[in-house]
Amino acid sequence: MPAEGFGVFQIADAAQCEQVVYDAIKTGYRLLDTAAAYMNEEAVGKGVARAIAEGITTREELFITTKVWVQDQKTEETAYEAVKVSLKKLAMPYVDLVLLHQPMGDYFAAYRGIERACREGLTKAVGVANFYPAVLANLCENVEMIPAVNQVELHPFFVQESALENMKAYGVVPQAWGPLAEGKHGIFTDPKLTEIGQKYGKSAAQVVLRWNAQRGVSIIPKSVHVERMGQNIDIWDFTLTDEGMAEIAAKDLGHSEIVNHDDPAFVKMLCGMKIH
Ligand SMILES: NC(=O)c1ccc[n+]([C@@H]2O[C@H](COP(=O)([O-])OP(=O)(O)OC[C@H]3O[C@@H](n4cnc5c(N)ncnc54)[C@H](OP(=O)(O)O)[C@@H]3O)[C@@H](O)[C@H]2O)c1
Repeated sequence: MPAEGFGVFQIADAAQCEQVVYDAIKTGYRLLDTAAAYMNEEAVGKGVARAIAEGITTREELFITTKVWVQDQKTEETAYEAVKVSLKKLAMPYVDLVLLHQPMGDYFAAYRGIERACREGLTKAVGVANFYPAVLANLCENVEMIPAVNQVELHPFFVQESALENMKAYGVVPQAWGPLAEGKHGIFTDPKLTEIGQKYGKSAAQVVLRWNAQRGVSIIPKSVHVERMGQNIDIWDFTLTDEGMAEIAAKDLGHSEIVNHDDPAFVKMLCGMKIH
């Protein structure tokens, strides 16, 4: 899996999403992260097909991730069928990674469904998202295939160091969603992040992405702007000092200000969210 990829959450307009995916591939991204719940798999598939048709990349070079939504995390069969529906929308015979989107519903049954999809070659690997440490440990202790990836919220305002240690212990690759904190906390103009970036001729966004990458976290920033796509992938030619890494981690609030998985009302809302 490439260490850095491109996320397509909240790009609902199909024509824009197709163009953005094409632009991202042209910019150099080879990992694309979508989900059934983003309602844009068809557009992602079209953007990919256009880039391949123009000889910019090949399917083999690309790494495509999609996710099974909670609504389909009911039984082994519903999750397995959801993978097939995603492949149809993407117009692809396989994807590289399928994640369970949330630790909700009957996620053990659903996990067996994506394991089956993996054994049948519909996906090359399986993983999870938003599995917090104890939930991930319980899953890893009780499944056949250890999840390849756990995609969770990780940025300087939500550092989750102990969650990373737990993933490492189980051999699960951490992947950051919201690596730019979805623009919250004034992240792009933060004085400390800007000051650190100035030493290397980099923006605060680049510093933040580099920080996660440097601590072994895969990153999938999203932007609909070509200039920002280029900026966000141009992070592999500088190294933050130990002091800089610590200064960035010191921004940790110790909790998310985007979602709250401990809030029953949030869980109820996601369990009721229908995508088909
Ligand atoms: N598994 C999950 O539950 C889950 C949850 C959330 C997200 N994700 C995945 O993770 C991906 C990334 O997370 P995200 O999209 O939520 O948030 P994000 O990547 O942290 O932030 C995206 C926001 O930052 C802006 N931005 C991007 N680069 C910038 C730059 N260089 N300078 C200034 N602004 C910039 C974007 O605006 P513009 O687009 O206008 O440039 C957008 O508003 C998603 O797309 C999705 O694939 C997964």
